[in-house]
Amino acid sequence: MVSTVTAPHRTVLTDCVRQAVQAPSLHNSQPWRFRLGRGRIDVYADRGRRLTVLDPAARELMMSVGAAVFTARLALRAAGFASVVDLFPDAAEPDLVARLTAVRQAPPTAVAQALAEAVGRRHTNRWPFIRAAVPARTVAALQDAARREGTELGLVGPEARHGVLDLARWADGRLRMMPGYRTELTRWVAGPPSRRDGVPAWAMGPDDPRAGVPVRHFAELLPFPLPVGHFETEPTVLLLSTGGDTVFEHIAAGQALQRVLLTATWLGLAAMPISQPLELSTTRDKLSGTGPGSTAQILLRVGYGRPVRATPRRPLEDVLLPTGGRATTEPPRPARPRRWRAR
Ligand SMILES: Cc1cc2nc3c(=O)[nH]c(=O)nc-3n(C[C@H](O)[C@H](O)[C@H](O)COP(=O)(O)O)c2cc1C
Repeated sequence: MVSTVTAPHRTVLTDCVRQAVQAPSLHNSQPWRFRLGRGRIDVYADRGRRLTVLDPAARELMMSVGAAVFTARLALRAAGFASVVDLFPDAAEPDLVARLTAVRQAPPTAVAQALAEAVGRRHTNRWPFIRAAVPARTVAALQDAARREGTELGLVGPEARHGVLDLARWADGRLRMMPGYRTELTRWVAGPPSRRDGVPAWAMGPDDPRAGVPVRHFAELLPFPLPVGHFETEPTVLLLSTGGDTVFEHIAAGQALQRVLLTATWLGLAAMPISQPLELSTTRDKLSGTGPGSTAQILLRVGYGRPVRATPRRPLEDVLLPTGGRATTEPPRPARPRRWRAR
């Protein structure tokens, strides 16, 4: 129960949602909705925004929601409130993924402030990175960020790197041949400038004639060619993995992904998720077990790159549900609540 003294004002909670929607999501699908309560933020999955071809099991949808949960949690912390997070707190509302409840006022830590400040500066960077090694202590900071969210981030070493990149390219080719793939891509890529979701043409990055870095082929439906870019030949690649593969691990992977990306932004690094090889079971199985956790969730390419712009987000009116009522698109299932205290 939140006392009158400590409950954050509704404007604070609204601002936390404004931060949360800046989280990364698969194809910028923004598969989330929010409802504000007294001293709390409920985060819902919006399953109508799932990519049914690429993400039939909603794993990446839950990762995207997890990234938004982490961002809301962080924003609350930066606003001076410690919170607890309950996952699937209501069996009658299966799309209610997380309930963040402010439990007490607490001055923000320097880390929370730095990460919160990075939220608006974090963007996916699909451009070539400069040929400079990422220092070991920087990689260690990213690994620590992943571990704080209960996941592992392994550095793909030089001996494994080309094998992993080959898998990613192979998976990309297979996905592009999948029935329904192009139709789904059309839904999410390069809409009119007024569009507030999806991946705009200007965010795609250049074509890599060497095909060394597995940048996702968003551009194949564009009526014009992309510019050519000369990508780094030895990219720094990291593999985020979890101890299992339930919805709880998918949410943890999403929270960890955002914590890692914000830490990278804070440390001046650019980053690009690579998820094609995680979207096919054959390549995902090959990657699982190569890192410190048992189940591979996403690859990240990190380095030093040119600045990139923010992609659009839907306005708050589209994602904020009215107070009270339900927002469920799935049949109820037994609750298996889990709770942790935000650090
Ligand atoms: C689960 C997940 C998977 C993603 N996979 C890829 C990917 O394979 N390739 C890519 O370029 N971006 C990928 N992204 C990044 C999204 O495309 C990006 O977050 C979205 O377009 C919004 O842009 P922003 O990150 O610049 O805010 C992924 C993001 C998430 C959360």
